[in-house]
Amino acid sequence: MKDFTFQNPTRIHFGRNALDQLPAEVKRYGQRILMVYGGGSIKRTGVYDAVTEKLQAAQAQVWELSGVQPNPRLSLVRQGIQLCREHQIQLVLAVGGGSAIDTAKAIVNGACYDGDVWDLYEGKGSNNTALPLGVVLTIPAAGSEMSRSSVITREEDWCKRGRNAYTNFPTFSILNPEYTYTLPPFQTACGIVDIMAHMMERYFTMEEHVELTDRLIEGALVTVINNAPIVMEKPDDYDARAEITWAGALAHNTLLETGRVGDWASHKLEHELSALYDVAHGAGLAVVFPAWMKFVLPRGGATKLAQFAQRVLAVPQDFGSEEEIAAEGIRRLEGFYQSLGLATTLTGMGIDDSRIPEMAARAVALVGGKLGGFVPLTAEMAEDIYRLAL
Ligand code: NZQ
Ligand code: ZN
Repeated sequence: MKDFTFQNPTRIHFGRNALDQLPAEVKRYGQRILMVYGGGSIKRTGVYDAVTEKLQAAQAQVWELSGVQPNPRLSLVRQGIQLCREHQIQLVLAVGGGSAIDTAKAIVNGACYDGDVWDLYEGKGSNNTALPLGVVLTIPAAGSEMSRSSVITREEDWCKRGRNAYTNFPTFSILNPEYTYTLPPFQTACGIVDIMAHMMERYFTMEEHVELTDRLIEGALVTVINNAPIVMEKPDDYDARAEITWAGALAHNTLLETGRVGDWASHKLEHELSALYDVAHGAGLAVVFPAWMKFVLPRGGATKLAQFAQRVLAVPQDFGSEEEIAAEGIRRLEGFYQSLGLATTLTGMGIDDSRIPEMAARAVALVGGKLGGFVPLTAEMAEDIYRLAL
């Protein structure tokens, strides 16, 4: 097990009455609030009205920045920073999913940085402070509600970049599983895939003697797999939605990576897909992750993949050789994604091989070396994975 320092400062309010905590949070940080949200789902679902009512109760003065798109764009971030400066905003409140939260993270950091906010995403600048950030979550998926990451796309060249920073942790996050009842099946499915991917990126490590975190991840993955068919069948099943909502936050809050180094190649390969084709992040992962597994299996990955297959996907020990058990685990994972209604090939998503070399080169260039910690990938190897996904 590697040495580590663990701290996650995000305060979580969870459950049916979690929003009742909002007025007290507003009083803590200030009443000049910028509310950041997406394309309008919160107005259709009633979450907007519920949040507004609590903000009024706290006598807050609210400015709004709406129109965050999935795969959120840099230009809206710049508008948000401008609003913060113009109106001396004291608290930014993201209401929505990863896209609204990541936009708000870029705003709270950018507002405390003198240069251009994109510098922070390119590693050309840094900030030590950020404005307080609150979250009201409506989709369990990205885990941004408790993570130190923010992912933004620059429209000029469709460059999608993630930034990890301590100042990205939200100050508080409100998680009411009831707000996720209205998710369309496709978004529920994409969220489930992303949550599992955050666990699997950490699971596939070459680090040894990490039994505790291995078993925490396995338990969390089994929980998501067990509850997924329930929420697909019955979207307003509170208990199943609650399991998945909490799993989504724990998947990415850094606890599961303590003492180990994750892989993250699949995420980087997916980010190129969503940058160039604007596919939903979870949908892209359902295609990339199995292909990555097929690629690493014969390259040193068989033992860990076989453990995953047995403990998470219940492949019996007497199924066959280690390689056969591992391969069956990958087949079962693909079958699970398909049962959620998702494609598991690029062709199935309507994507051909024309931009594979470009995506592979960009993904590897972004990390400035080889991609991934489990089996380090060159650009040629990354191309092979995209082709395996066709
Ligand atoms: O925009 P609105 O109208 O609100 O609709 C959204 C959006 O179209 C809709 N939606 C959300 N909650 C809903 C709902 N519709 C009905 N009922 C509800 N309760 O769902 C759509 C997707 O929303 P989005 O925020 O884009 O989804 P998600 O949470 O999956 O976020 C995806 C983004 O997060 C990034 C991804 O790359 C992608 O850009 N990620 C962020 C991470 C982080 N910050 O830690 C880590 C992840 O690995 C990921 O890369
Ligand atoms: Zn993800």
